[in-house]
Amino acid sequence: MPDETGAVLALATRLAREAGAIQRARYETGVGIATKSTSIDLVTEVDRACERHIVDALRRERPADAVLAEEGSAHGAAGAEWRWVIDPLDGTVNYAHGYPCFCVSIGVERDGMRRVGVVYDPLRDELFEATRGGGARRNGRPIRVSGEADLGRALLATGFAYDVHHAERDNLDLLARAVKRAGGVRRDGSAALDLCCVACGRFDGFWELKLHPWDVAAGILIVAEAGGRVTDLSGGPPPASGSEIAASNGAIHAELLAVLGAHSS
Ligand code: IPD
Ligand code: CA
Ligand code: CA
Repeated sequence: MPDETGAVLALATRLAREAGAIQRARYETGVGIATKSTSIDLVTEVDRACERHIVDALRRERPADAVLAEEGSAHGAAGAEWRWVIDPLDGTVNYAHGYPCFCVSIGVERDGMRRVGVVYDPLRDELFEATRGGGARRNGRPIRVSGEADLGRALLATGFAYDVHHAERDNLDLLARAVKRAGGVRRDGSAALDLCCVACGRFDGFWELKLHPWDVAAGILIVAEAGGRVTDLSGGPPPASGSEIAASNGAIHAELLAVLGAHSS
């Protein structure tokens, strides 16, 4: 691994663990909660504290790098070589309710290409990471997608955007079709962890609409480096915006897209 990628991975890993420690320490302690785009789009004090912790460290330790972070701390020139794409707490609704499924997600691009992905689940103490061309690991051990080739036995995951109460494109038609065809479908509330679960074979596939760059920046690389396939719903490259994504073990991908692809909305 080139030296600088190694240094970036080490820093991303350290910051993900430190932010995860903040989440663990304040879990179920009655944190302040506010709403954002809709009444169900929540942000907690801990989202903000984690973002501050990570972004302040990057300003000190990597001042030339650009940053895009969910709670608003974007900085850096458009031409910066390295860019950090950060979800300080993925699974905020779970966190606010005390449901134990959330994480820190940090993806790092070099010249616009995904180079490093780190996702840390602080309650399970599981750290998923990948570097481009260097494979994917969980707590230091290589991981691999599942070998399930039959969608009828596959365990899938999905999620819903915060405009689901009123939006026409709400993913419910796709969900209905997937439920009728797959072995099972879960909605666990953390897209970054859903992707890591595909990478390590717990889930065989995942799709979602209307995600954001910080939800997928790390997970896309982790799935790809674990031998999986990640596309948009038409089989093209996954948009960095996160606007639609399908990830799988590869073996069920065509069938998964066929089931999802009949969507009208
Ligand atoms: C959300 C989670 C959820 C997904 C939503 C995301 P947040 O991120 O990843 O699983 O269904 O679309 O917005 O708000 O918890 O960071
Ligand atoms: Ca998120
Ligand atoms: Ca978040």
